[in-house]
Amino acid sequence: MARLSYPKAGELNAGLEELVLSRVGDGRKDFGYKTESAGDLASWGDPGLEELTRWVGRMAGQLVEKLLGVSLAEAYLRSREREGEGGRAPVVGVVARRSWASVYRNGDRHEPHFHPNTAWSAIYYAAAPGPCELDLLDPRHFVDYFDAGISLAGEEQRVRLVCAPGDLVLIPGWLRHAVPTFQDEGVRISLSWNLNYMARSG
Ligand SMILES: [Fe+2]
Repeated sequence: MARLSYPKAGELNAGLEELVLSRVGDGRKDFGYKTESAGDLASWGDPGLEELTRWVGRMAGQLVEKLLGVSLAEAYLRSREREGEGGRAPVVGVVARRSWASVYRNGDRHEPHFHPNTAWSAIYYAAAPGPCELDLLDPRHFVDYFDAGISLAGEEQRVRLVCAPGDLVLIPGWLRHAVPTFQDEGVRISLSWNLNYMARSG
């Protein structure tokens, strides 16, 4: 996973709260535990959001390259070879298949979940009166039911990230995560992208 700060957060976040609240006001996606915007952030026609989305994709791509030690194109070709398929050097990028805004009000939360068919889940914190908490859950199967009595590394089954507006978190799509109960009279606003790889021949 990675956590980083958006260099242009100051100017972007200033107008983001009002923009997001205007998009979630119709109540169509009020789940009871939080409210989401409909549709795709890209369709909002906001240049600042579009620039942020491109940056998020670039950062995810760089993270993969750092983790693997090769370029995305090389990683893609190696993956194809493992599948017994050849091909020429493609252009590979990370793109958002779906993106949305989430608004949490006092008492809201999001229970543990993951994002199916998603290479990377990206979460950007746009506004909050205080810290933005995100719990990452231990991916080991059934670990919740295991208590050895002695913890070797002091490990927890949850790791709580404490973020702030302007932070971006990138986690694998399979990693379960949760938002603990938000307790404040203000609003906590985050943006999310489901990222996947896109390859085309160069
Ligand atoms: Fe999520």
